[in-house]
Amino acid sequence: MRAIVVVDKARGTAGMKLEERPEPRAAINDVVVQVFASGFVGTELEWPSTWTDRLDRDRTPCIPGHEVAGVVTALGYGTTGLSVGQRVFGIADWYRDGTLAEYVAIEARNLASLPGDVDFTVGASLPISGLTAWQGLFEHGRLRAGQRILVHGAAGAVGAMVTQLAREVGAHVIGSGRTAARHAALDFGANEFVDLDTDRLEDVGAVDLVFDVIGGDIGKRSAGLVRAGGVLVSIVGPPAARPTDGLAVDFVVEADRAQLTQIVQRVRTDDCGPTSAPSRRSTTPSLPSTRLSDGRGR
Ligand SMILES: NC(=O)c1ccc[n+]([C@@H]2O[C@H](COP(=O)([O-])OP(=O)(O)OC[C@H]3O[C@@H](n4cnc5c(N)ncnc54)[C@H](OP(=O)(O)O)[C@@H]3O)[C@@H](O)[C@H]2O)c1
Repeated sequence: MRAIVVVDKARGTAGMKLEERPEPRAAINDVVVQVFASGFVGTELEWPSTWTDRLDRDRTPCIPGHEVAGVVTALGYGTTGLSVGQRVFGIADWYRDGTLAEYVAIEARNLASLPGDVDFTVGASLPISGLTAWQGLFEHGRLRAGQRILVHGAAGAVGAMVTQLAREVGAHVIGSGRTAARHAALDFGANEFVDLDTDRLEDVGAVDLVFDVIGGDIGKRSAGLVRAGGVLVSIVGPPAARPTDGLAVDFVVEADRAQLTQIVQRVRTDDCGPTSAPSRRSTTPSLPSTRLSDGRGR
């Protein structure tokens, strides 16, 4: 098969090459997916997991890319829940060859069914930002209707999803970003916008939840805004400061079929009614299905 490979961390994306690679084989509980669309994150080549396996052994040449939408072409021994020919989307393992290839092997549990009315390109744009938003809001942040949430980078890929889902659940959303991000953040549903170039962050007042995609000084100052019992959720590593009387959580997104199913319902072209998708986790709210779009304009 053809695949994009990297061999030299120092060269970054300039070192990416299109090569012939062996087709992957499906291990126990895996499927092989023929890739129709793939998502690549710009910072991937800096992640240690792009270059090693779980025992920290070099695995170059590596195939990057972790988001995928495509069609199942093979099942591994014992694999259940998906079938050959099924349209799927999801996240490939951080430590295995990824999705910038014609075929990828993935654990079946990391994938969900992609409805026929959702394009492959849309499907491949959803998993990382959608799941990160979902897990940060509802599992780690335990967001509830009526709470005030500060969403940093509200016009970006993750922030746009966070903003839309937080509004959907009935929270009051304060989006942040640079001056140029104001309109996009408000369009995604933010009730207010804090311009980090010109406004004073501290004037936001107390919030129940901070969703931080920026970190650094912004993350540090945001800890002071979290009211008693609130949560600072960071997706950019451990926060430099913690709320005085609240929680600080940093996490890495995980694949989750039930959550992927909930998320994709929100971009369907022919179904904006309530979703019947099952929820495996007690912290996952049952939300009405509305239209989601990502920070990349889809
Ligand atoms: N832990 C996890 O599981 C996880 C999952 C997904 C993403 N991430 C990480 O989360 C971060 C955000 O990801 P993303 O995909 O949402 O990125 P993105 O699409 O680039 O969005 C980030 C947004 O924040 C804004 N921003 C960044 N620094 C800013 C600053 N100092 N002042 C004002 N606005 C600022 C950006 O504006 P500009 O474009 O103008 O800079 C952009 O709108 C990345 O570091 C990514 O690696 C972590």
